[in-house]
Amino acid sequence: DSSPNGGNGQSRGKFTSSGFIFAAIGSAVGLGNMWKFPYITGLYGGAAFFFLFIICLLAVGLPVLLAELAVGRGGRGNASSSYYRLSGSKLWGGLGFLSVLGPFVILSFYAIVAGWTLHYAVISFTGKLFENADFGVRFGGFIGSWMIVFWQFVVMLLTGWIVWLGVSSGIERFNKILIPGLVILLLVMVVRVLTLEGAGEGVSFFLRPDFSKLTAESALVALGHAFFSLSLGMGAMMTYGSYVDRRQSLGAATLAIGFGDLLYAFLAGLIIFPTTAVFGLEASQGPGLVFVALPAAFSAMPLGALFGGLFFLLLAFASLTSTVSLLEVPVAFASDTFGWNRRTSVIIVTLLCFLVGLPSSFSVGGLYSGLSFGGKSFFDWMDFVASNILLPICGLVVTLFAGYVWKGAAEEAGLNAWWFKVWLFMLRFVAPLLVLLVFLYSAGLLPD
Ligand code: PFF
Repeated sequence: DSSPNGGNGQSRGKFTSSGFIFAAIGSAVGLGNMWKFPYITGLYGGAAFFFLFIICLLAVGLPVLLAELAVGRGGRGNASSSYYRLSGSKLWGGLGFLSVLGPFVILSFYAIVAGWTLHYAVISFTGKLFENADFGVRFGGFIGSWMIVFWQFVVMLLTGWIVWLGVSSGIERFNKILIPGLVILLLVMVVRVLTLEGAGEGVSFFLRPDFSKLTAESALVALGHAFFSLSLGMGAMMTYGSYVDRRQSLGAATLAIGFGDLLYAFLAGLIIFPTTAVFGLEASQGPGLVFVALPAAFSAMPLGALFGGLFFLLLAFASLTSTVSLLEVPVAFASDTFGWNRRTSVIIVTLLCFLVGLPSSFSVGGLYSGLSFGGKSFFDWMDFVASNILLPICGLVVTLFAGYVWKGAAEEAGLNAWWFKVWLFMLRFVAPLLVLLVFLYSAGLLPD
C-alpha cells in the first residue's frame, strides 16, 4: 500500500452486521443524550426544541452520518487515511487528521464526567449519597477532590482495556452486552418515573410544543447537538464504518442508528422531565441537573438508592460505549501511521489522553483554579475547541468531500437513484450551509 499514513496491509478488524449497529448506537448514545439533551431542551422550551432536534437529525444528521460511514468503508482506513486513499490528495488526508484530533480531545474530558457517573452509581447503591440531603455541597466537594482523577483513570482504564481486546472481541462484544443492558435499565427507569404521582405535568412539558419559544439560537443549538449526539465530525463513525462488510446496507444502518439515538433521547426526556416536575426541580438548571437535582429526587422516592444506582449505572454504560468509540479513532490512526500493533497503540494513546485530561480535571472543581483563562476553565476550553471548532469543521470536511470530491460516494452508499439525489442535495447545499452557520455561531463569530 502506497499511502503515507495508513494501511500497512495488516488485516483490519471486522464487525458482524449486528455488531456494527450495536457499536454505532453505543457511540451515539451517551452523556449527550442524558446529560446535555434534557437541560438544553429545558432551556429552550421543551417540546418545540425537541421537534427542532428531530428535524436537524433527519435533514442534516442522517445524510452526514451516511457520508461518514461511506467514506470509512470506501477508504478502509482510519479517519485520515480514508480521505487520502479516496482522493489521492494529502490535503484531504491532513484535513482528516483534524477528525483524529477531535475525539482525542473530547475523550480527555468526556472521561472525567463519565467517571462521575460511575462514582455516583457506587455511592448511590451503597446509600452513601443519601446520608446528607445537601446534594449541591456533596457534588461540589466531590469535583473539587482528587477522587475525580481516580475515577477518570478508571474510565480510561476500562476504555483502554476494551479497545485493547480488538474490534470484534472487544468493541463488538462489549457493546452487544451493554446495549441490551442499557435498554433494560432505561425501561425500568421509565416505568418507575411515569408511575410517580404527578408525572403527567413533566410529560406534557416535554411533549406539548410552544413554537413561540423557538429562536435562531435554539435552532443552531439543536443542530450542533444533533451532530454531537450522532458522534459526527469526530471520525468515530468513519472508523467504525471501515470495519463494516461490503454487503451491509449503509442506508439501513444509518436509519437504525438515527432511530436508536432519537429513541434514547426521547426516553431520557421521559425520565428527566417527569422527575423534575414531580419533585419541583428545574429542568434547565444545567449540568448540575443530573448530579444535584436528580439525587434529591431519588432520595425522596421509595427505593431511591436502588433507582438512583440504576440510573447512574445507565449513564455509566452509555458513556463507556461512547468513550470506546472515541479512543478507537486515534488508536487506529496511530497503528496505521506508526506501524504499531494495537496494544502498543492503545497503551500510548490512552496514557497520553489521560495526561492531557488532567488539567481539565484540575480546573473543573477547583483543585487548581489557576487553570482558567478568559473566563473559561481549561475543561471548558477543551470542550469549546473540540465541540465548537473541530467538530463543525470536520463535519464540513466530510460533507464537502462526499458531496463534491469523491466520485464513488453513490456506489458506496448504495442508495437508489431517487434517494441518492436527495442525499447529494443535502450534502452539497443544505448541510454545508447549516454547519457553517453553527460554526460561526458557536465560535462567537456571528453578529447578534
Ligand atoms: N455521541 C456521544 C454522546 O451523545 O454522548 C458523544 C460522542 C461520542 C461524540 C463519540 C463524538 C464521538 F465520536
